[in-house]
Amino acid sequence: MAFREGRMGIAPPPTERHGVRSPQRRRDIALVSERERTLNILVTGGAGYIGSHAVRLLDRAGHRAWIYDNLSAGHRSAAPADRLIVGDLTDRPRLTAALAEHKIGAVMHFAAFALVGESVADPAKYYQNNVGGSLSLLEAMRAAGVGKMVFSSTTATYGAPQTTPISEDEPQRPINPYGFTKLVVEQALADYAQAYGLAYAALRYFNAAGASPHGDLGEDHTPESHLIPIVLQAALGQREKITIFGDDYPTPDGTCIRDYVHVDDLGAAHVQALERLRPGQGLRLNLGTGQGHSVREVVEACRRVTGRPIPVEIGPRRPGDPPELVADARRARQLLDWQPRYVELDAIVSTAWRWHSAHPRGYGD
Ligand SMILES: NC(=O)c1ccc[n+]([C@@H]2O[C@H](COP(=O)([O-])OP(=O)(O)OC[C@H]3O[C@@H](n4cnc5c(N)ncnc54)[C@H](O)[C@@H]3O)[C@@H](O)[C@H]2O)c1
Repeated sequence: MAFREGRMGIAPPPTERHGVRSPQRRRDIALVSERERTLNILVTGGAGYIGSHAVRLLDRAGHRAWIYDNLSAGHRSAAPADRLIVGDLTDRPRLTAALAEHKIGAVMHFAAFALVGESVADPAKYYQNNVGGSLSLLEAMRAAGVGKMVFSSTTATYGAPQTTPISEDEPQRPINPYGFTKLVVEQALADYAQAYGLAYAALRYFNAAGASPHGDLGEDHTPESHLIPIVLQAALGQREKITIFGDDYPTPDGTCIRDYVHVDDLGAAHVQALERLRPGQGLRLNLGTGQGHSVREVVEACRRVTGRPIPVEIGPRRPGDPPELVADARRARQLLDWQPRYVELDAIVSTAWRWHSAHPRGYGD
């Protein structure tokens, strides 16, 4: 079954000669804009870190977000209670019913497991949830006639690339099961677009960081694997010290360089992708600031922002850590008209610190 275009569908605009629009065309555009402004969106994983921020931005953009999350890693209090549907991606009947009941026009698909080490130790868990869950979602969307998806992909699909900054033309050669699961889903999306007219954006995030500037949403993972929250836990005295895994990489200070992109900038890119996607279109875009920061620079930024000492020890390298991963995100800037607002590392860390210092135990659930 092909995706119906009606509900979310916006036909490609007829050729407009010399940019002049007829009154009818202007009315059509106004109607389309109105429909786009009021889309109902199903946000899978919307009780998690990035999804919960995207939900807020969707609401702010005038859409209505419905959160679909099994709460395996998400937090009940990170989602609006009256719009939280507790369910699993693999429960296709429940998904199909949710899509129909809430007249969903598009899906933002954040739900996945995302721990690289765990994916190496237990790949079955990752293929079942990330690939199996996504295929279940795609079939539910087909059954309900929902033809638009924005998907959380990752820099891990590139593996250990030879060039930096990394553009979308870089070959995708993952080096762990987590990265493979995301690449398989990207391929499924491309095939569904080709065969059934799905419109999709696969957004390849670099390192999501920071928290809502309002201080009420933030990062709360167990276990925590991301650098900034770990360093801030040390600032809070919850960890004695942090370990830097290798200081002999071929980088200026010997520690690994990553591209930290603010979680609200990621959310904004999702909203912009959703509003720009046209039927049958497939976008594969990197999301990063284009600036790299070493582990030592992150620690220094955390010391500056918190004003607290953060003890550091140097440990051995971890297998599979490339020295440098920085995005060439020019395509997202051009196609989505997207511009990250948080360009300074200290500004990103400040929002994270506001969250962690006010919620030292996270959401507490
Ligand atoms: N955090 C990053 O730096 C980063 C970088 C690149 C890509 N990503 C991707 O972005 C997405 C969101 O990441 P995050 O850091 O917010 O993760 P997260 O763990 O905070 O959020 C994921 C959410 O999905 C839910 N979930 C997982 N499996 C589910 C299932 N089968 N059914 C229903 N809900 C399910 C969890 O309960 C959780 O709320 C993931 O797909 C991840 O792979 C994250």
